Amino acid sequence: MVSYKELGLVNTREMFAKAVKGGYAIPAFNFNTMEQMQAIVQAAVETKSPVIMQVSKGARNYANATILRYMAQGAVEYAKELGCANPQIVLHLDHGDTFELCKDCIDMGFSSVMIDGSSLPYEENIALASKVVEYAHKYDVTVEAELGVLAGVEDEVSSAVSHYTKPEEVIDFSQRTGCDSLAISIGTSHGAYKFTPAQCTRDPKTGKLVPPPLAFDILHEIEKKLPGFPIVLHGSSSVPQDEVDTINKFGGKLPDAVGIPEEQLREASKSAVCKINIDSDSRLAMTAAIRKYLAENPGHFDPRQYLKPARENMKKMYIHKIVNVLGSNDKL
Ligand code: G3H
Ligand code: 13P
Ligand code: ZN
Repeated sequence: MVSYKELGLVNTREMFAKAVKGGYAIPAFNFNTMEQMQAIVQAAVETKSPVIMQVSKGARNYANATILRYMAQGAVEYAKELGCANPQIVLHLDHGDTFELCKDCIDMGFSSVMIDGSSLPYEENIALASKVVEYAHKYDVTVEAELGVLAGVEDEVSSAVSHYTKPEEVIDFSQRTGCDSLAISIGTSHGAYKFTPAQCTRDPKTGKLVPPPLAFDILHEIEKKLPGFPIVLHGSSSVPQDEVDTINKFGGKLPDAVGIPEEQLREASKSAVCKINIDSDSRLAMTAAIRKYLAENPGHFDPRQYLKPARENMKKMYIHKIVNVLGSNDKL
């Protein structure tokens, strides 16, 4: 058993309280590789931002659970080496699907876990989340739970409404589970194809797809029911058009990829939304830089040559999100 406190990590409690009060959101960036970790830490240090580094079950399978846990510990030391005296870094399990997985992460130094029972019937979601909270709180680890289901790309926007979080359930759910934050569904979804072209309109000037707006009415109702309670948005990549264009220009095929417009995320960050999850934008930034580099340098085969611009491109994206979208800069 290793406590996250020994590793120099922090849980989300104080970080979220400050973010809700200050009208900004903490970036929650997924990582699977060393280059992503380095770029996240460099971006957070340079902007003086708290940061959540999150690991999915898939990331643990890909990179190995032990390696990722030591990378998070390394992230804290690296941040100090870069000149940040008091880094505020959370190691978070993203989309934990069982009590056992959450317990394993808590026992291995995670400072925060998500238990995602959103696909379960309401009472089962409560029972599972409560069990995780009971264990996690013994070790001062914070817990994110989810209510409402994120729509898939094939869902019609109209029918997806039925998956949105029901504001009338949030008080009962948060009180009975004791969770520290709540992920809600208001129209975001995972991946680079958040909406079908049929769900969007076309900007007559650019010809680009314009997605339907997020359900801010539901978010505001939830805020009223749970004043000051930390709310989390998953599926919040914006799928930058320039990265998609670069990927397509250099041999990729991502037609009609579309994300959440940044103005809407900016607006959400000012509300009780205090954690915004971004993974796909990092994947796009990395892939775009690698495709471009290899297309322009066909004779190169040293991974450091193409991973360096990939890391730079991700760092640029992380800094942009922190400063121009979430507003978590200068908070350390
Ligand atoms: O919400 C999902 C995250 O983007 C993690 O994705 O399960 O492919 O690692 P992953
Ligand atoms: P994106 O696919 O929009 O980056 O969402 C990531 C996420 O929600 C991780 O939990
Ligand atoms: Zn997610």
